[in-house]
Amino acid sequence: MLVLLLVLYHFIASTIVSARPNGTHYSYHELWMLQNYFWQNFLYPTNRGHIEANDSSIFAADVQGRVHATRTFDGRELNNEYIFGLFSQPDHPGIFGPPIAYNITQFAATDNTAAATTLITFNITTFQLVVPAAIDTWFQYDSSGKITQYDAVFRWLDYLFVPLMQAAGKMFHLNDSVQIQNRVAALLADTICQTHQDHCHEANQQYASKEDCVVFLTQRVRFGLPYEMGRNTLLCREVHDNMVRFNPPVHCPHIGPGGGGYCVDDMTYQQVVLEKYFRHSWVPYGYADHNPWVAPQDGAGQLVD
Ligand SMILES: *[C@@H]1O[C@H](CO)[C@@H](O)[C@H](O)[C@H]1NC(C)=O
Ligand SMILES: *[C@@H]1O[C@H](CO)[C@@H](O)[C@H](O)[C@H]1NC(C)=O
Ligand SMILES: *[C@@H]1O[C@H](CO)[C@@H](O)[C@H](O)[C@H]1NC(C)=O
Ligand SMILES: *[C@@H]1O[C@H](CO)[C@@H](O)[C@H](O)[C@H]1NC(C)=O
Ligand SMILES: *[C@@H]1O[C@H](CO)[C@@H](O)[C@H](O)[C@H]1NC(C)=O
Repeated sequence: MLVLLLVLYHFIASTIVSARPNGTHYSYHELWMLQNYFWQNFLYPTNRGHIEANDSSIFAADVQGRVHATRTFDGRELNNEYIFGLFSQPDHPGIFGPPIAYNITQFAATDNTAAATTLITFNITTFQLVVPAAIDTWFQYDSSGKITQYDAVFRWLDYLFVPLMQAAGKMFHLNDSVQIQNRVAALLADTICQTHQDHCHEANQQYASKEDCVVFLTQRVRFGLPYEMGRNTLLCREVHDNMVRFNPPVHCPHIGPGGGGYCVDDMTYQQVVLEKYFRHSWVPYGYADHNPWVAPQDGAGQLVD
């Protein structure tokens, strides 16, 4: 992969057509290569090589990302841990699993921005389910081919929970959907609480005991709907459980009762939909002047690269 990176680096550096203060211009082909480069590195086990905070091969240092159904993620360290760490642990019980193949089905690109839909086959090892997921992504790149901002949506995520729960039912020999969800909740809670036991000590401790933790996660907090992976739910803590071991001080609070700012019910539907988050507009050439998703910039509203 390092070799590919170096080759691609040379390729990008030598083919930038023009660099302007407000952005970088790549050809359609270059953006296609960058998009494929991302997914190749997203696949397991290559993704394991990008989890560390100091890996700078994919994201710009000040990257901003948003993943529908979860939340926004600022900075390279957090994004390395989430994007590459979450899907890198086939032996860790949970609803996530390693991505093993991909195909891009839609792709449009201009300047430094690419919009794509990608089918990714996930191996949900815990429930012995190999299943495709469709992910819609918008990527923006800086002049060295690093992602400066991205927006990702798991298409049909709620529908994906149907085969997921069916696979769990098959594994647990259960037919009733309430019983299946309860068994999944018990499994996730036990896993998260073991993670807490193993990695969240002293100042990072969130629960008095493993028992307290299990009671909280199965009785005091809701399981959550698929879109609630960034709210006060068990599903949200299940997401963050996978990151704890990479950085306990940062991630232990996310699996705790307080949710650490990530697993909290702090935003209404309207606030989510209208959130001014991105530094750069996703609409180039000055179209869509007052893009509601762009945060106010320094200076006279000028987007700075
Ligand atoms: C990143 O950090 C790890 C451990 O902290 C170290 O082993 C590795 O060499 C570092 N990699 C780079 C590219 O600096
Ligand atoms: C991608 O397409 C190839 C060729 O059609 C196929 O063999 C492969 O299974 C597909 N992968 C996914 C993830 O759909
Ligand atoms: C899914 O993961 C399991 C456990 O690691 C492995 O045995 C199986 O071969 C994998 N399936 C695919 C299609 O890669
Ligand atoms: C589960 O449901 C299927 C179809 O409704 C039925 O054939 C089967 O007997 C049920 N199994 C159990 C264990 O209830
Ligand atoms: C960058 O700025 C120039 C001059 O203001 C403008 O013509 C061009 O469309 C801008 N490009 C993008 C991608 O916004």
